[in-house]
Amino acid sequence: MTALTLSTSSAATLRADAVVVGVAKGPKGPVVALGAEAVDAAFDGKLATVLETLGATGAEGEVTKLPSPAGWKAPVVLAVGLGEAPDEDGGYGTEALRRAAGAAARALAGSKKGAFALPVQDADDAAAVAEGALLGAYAFTAHRGGDDKKKAGGAPLAEVALLGAKPRDKAFKAAAERATVVAEEVNRARDLINTAPNVLDPKAFAAEAQAAAKEYGLKVEVLDEKALKKGGYGGILGVGQGSEAPPRLVRIAYTHAKAEKTLALVGKGITYDSGGISLKPAGHNETMKCDMSGAAAVFATVVAAARLGLRVNVTGWLALAENMPSGSATRPGDVLTMYSGKTVEVLNTDAEGRLVLADALTRASEEEPDAIIDVATLTGAMVLALGNRTFGIMANDDAFRAAIHHLAEEAGEPSWPMPLPADLRKGMDSPVADIANMGERMGGGLVAGLFLKEFIGEGITWAHLDIAGPAFNESGPFGYTPKGGTGSAVRTLVRLAEHTAAGDLG
Ligand code: BES
Ligand code: MN
Ligand code: ZN
Repeated sequence: MTALTLSTSSAATLRADAVVVGVAKGPKGPVVALGAEAVDAAFDGKLATVLETLGATGAEGEVTKLPSPAGWKAPVVLAVGLGEAPDEDGGYGTEALRRAAGAAARALAGSKKGAFALPVQDADDAAAVAEGALLGAYAFTAHRGGDDKKKAGGAPLAEVALLGAKPRDKAFKAAAERATVVAEEVNRARDLINTAPNVLDPKAFAAEAQAAAKEYGLKVEVLDEKALKKGGYGGILGVGQGSEAPPRLVRIAYTHAKAEKTLALVGKGITYDSGGISLKPAGHNETMKCDMSGAAAVFATVVAAARLGLRVNVTGWLALAENMPSGSATRPGDVLTMYSGKTVEVLNTDAEGRLVLADALTRASEEEPDAIIDVATLTGAMVLALGNRTFGIMANDDAFRAAIHHLAEEAGEPSWPMPLPADLRKGMDSPVADIANMGERMGGGLVAGLFLKEFIGEGITWAHLDIAGPAFNESGPFGYTPKGGTGSAVRTLVRLAEHTAAGDLG
């Protein structure tokens, strides 16, 4: 795990492998950002010219390395692009800072220590740089042996030293602590997502929750296949029954003695989605270990809330199952009796997420939380609608949907509000059961949302985040986002918990 320190040292005397400075796109070429004064002075005020000579433009994510001035402790200056030049007060957006810090941390993989001299004007800026650097420094090496751990892109940057932050200032200290917790928990989610599906089955995932619960003093309960049968969880059992690895429902709860509100978070935890009997074609199943990203985000958020000591109760529900085809698998045409008592005709076994979520949503509703938020890699339709970087937000409450959209934006997670058009419900009418698990093809993401809505308890505020696009990055890394599992939605959910604790929401 990458360590974070706040430092008052000067860039010239700090022992590090590289000093990171910011460079932005100016009207007439690259401009050096605030924070780089000492470096610029050592280059006789010509750092921008030197960078331009080397081809730097200041474009977002661009990395330019040059040798340090003679006599400096750090041998390399790394200039990272911040994008468009700032407003008059020299401030960059927090997301621009996060991304630049992330790109720099990625470029420093294999190094021990990076001294970040990016434009930090207040504690929020420091938090953004810290978060971006710690997220960008992520590497997944769990499945690699010995020396190969280093070969594959290098071990992550071991230490991030933030220059320009005030180590004794309360606000800066708090910002650094929060950034560390948030980044570590996003990285926890990434690790779970990236773990191979033969290793992380429902039982192994539940064991991770139990271990973390012990470490952080959380209450945890695991329903195994026997308990699920006894409890009548027909949705979770129906999806899991084709697999040799039986399903689990995990309840992991953080409580605060003075909490006034309780949030219930429900995560889709399909540890592998083959599609079941409605098997996915080759080309659509290689990345389906990511289908537990919702459960990973929920789990990580509960732990983050505990580590931050937030004054709010957060209950996580992890609906864990493996969706496999076999002689014992659910068939298209089967009818399942759900935990709620509703019956569902399974028309397509690949629409399994809504089945496991339905049971967990009904169960979560029984505890009458102030709000339920579910997170799921639910539909390919949402990816078609919003692309690979933006998640969709649906809700039974317009103000709540808008609030989550706003918090996601603050957290630096692209999202967009989506409707739940009532006319799409009739497409799920079944001739034999209360509802079918599939409806019209058009608007498939919204159809899935309408299905989930049927399982929310009367009068409970609910939102659904379909993270099928951003959960797993199949292209190259960018900013602080690595290839593979991204930890999508963790930062939004942590922010939601913080704002709920502060009494900002309903
Ligand atoms: N896990 C998939 C959705 C998905 C697609 C996640 C792409 C990540 C990337 C989900 O279980 C699924 O298969 N959904 C079907 C539903 C359909 C059969 C109604 C889909 O979207 O095609
Ligand atoms: Mn599926
Ligand atoms: Zn799925």
